[in-house]
Amino acid sequence: MADEHAARWAWMRERTPVTKEYVYLNTGFCGARTFEVSDAMKRRIDLEMFQGPTTKPVMDERADLTRRLREATARMMGADVDEIAITGNTTEGVNIGVNGVVLKAGDGVVTTNIEHGGGMVPAYWTRRKYGTEISIVPIEYDNGSGEIVERFDQAITDTTKLVILSAISYATGQTLPLAEITRLAHARGATVVVDGAQTGGHLPIDAHALGVDVYAIPAHKWLCGPEGLGMLYVRRDRIADLDPVKVSGRAAASYDSTGNFEAKQGDVTKFEVSTNSTPVIAGTLVAVEQYLESGPQAVWDRVRALTRYAEDRIGGIAGVELTGGRTESTRSGLFFFAVPGIDPAFMAAYLEGEAKVVCRSVKQVGSVRLSMQVYNTEAEVERVAELVAGAAAAGNVPEQYRVVPHGAEA
Ligand SMILES: Cc1ncc(COP(=O)(O)O)c(C=O)c1O
Repeated sequence: MADEHAARWAWMRERTPVTKEYVYLNTGFCGARTFEVSDAMKRRIDLEMFQGPTTKPVMDERADLTRRLREATARMMGADVDEIAITGNTTEGVNIGVNGVVLKAGDGVVTTNIEHGGGMVPAYWTRRKYGTEISIVPIEYDNGSGEIVERFDQAITDTTKLVILSAISYATGQTLPLAEITRLAHARGATVVVDGAQTGGHLPIDAHALGVDVYAIPAHKWLCGPEGLGMLYVRRDRIADLDPVKVSGRAAASYDSTGNFEAKQGDVTKFEVSTNSTPVIAGTLVAVEQYLESGPQAVWDRVRALTRYAEDRIGGIAGVELTGGRTESTRSGLFFFAVPGIDPAFMAAYLEGEAKVVCRSVKQVGSVRLSMQVYNTEAEVERVAELVAGAAAAGNVPEQYRVVPHGAEA
């Protein structure tokens, strides 16, 4: 079936210059920027240089960009503007949620075996700090939503205070059924903190409909914005009772130097610590606007169509195993494969060295991960398939690629 958005995807590809030289399949690590995102950052850097960072017009623009970013993020996340805080990255947002909950020894914390360190370590830290009981929901890549919900149903009990989970797993690409899991958690009195590192700019988010308490996303992955910024949703009725982790004047309703102090309660800006980079805000705003112009549902449909294509094409190669979520309810734009006998890090090095195919391996699951973004094409998947078929037939990649490439196992 012809994709009615094909012209938009061709335009996005045209505007994403890395695609001219590379087969860029590493959006889940860090997305590729368009000219527009880069130009917005450069423009702001120059404005600050020529006009001074604290002159009135430059300060006014900073306030305007920040307000517009909050508004665009709220639109994108199905939230209200006053439920959005600007943070440094996803992990900071997850920490704000996790550490905002009052915990004591014996309280239950539920997470999964397919979390990134950005979710897993904050969970373990609650055990180290308070003596919580950690329960890890086992998820296999071929589980569908129904099985996943059943496992959460078993793991979440009346002593569970916190559920920390990814909306899309970095290690399997599975989309987790957040709304159902949240219903279970809330019925048992637990707070739900979502690691949305792999979702902002990838799948449509409706925070109000999901009902989650805290949902953190980054600018630099699927939104294809710059590094150094994150956006945090905190549900309106949880803002007051979640205590911020790090505080500054922004967390104070009022204070003076004689001992008087009143904390902010229901104002989401209490989670924002201090100065952040305005050029990065400018670039992120354009990235969010471009994503909204593309249309979240259309993007989601397109990236999953590319994954489905890869499942057929790469999955059809003798010796290749598919190791990512691929039921209709769990498939995302993250595609995973393994060739038993070939180290996935070597495979990634081979793809980049041989044909400028940029992707990563994920040690935790012994697989190569390809991220499908709208600037990618079926022809690029074909290119990867040819190379993988060559390596699979030979039983290994050429000798010179049998090294772990730069930062590949992060
Ligand atoms: C699921 C997941 N969580 C957290 C992170 C870290 O994200 P950030 O750099 O925005 O903190 C990543 C990055 O790869 C991720 O995939």
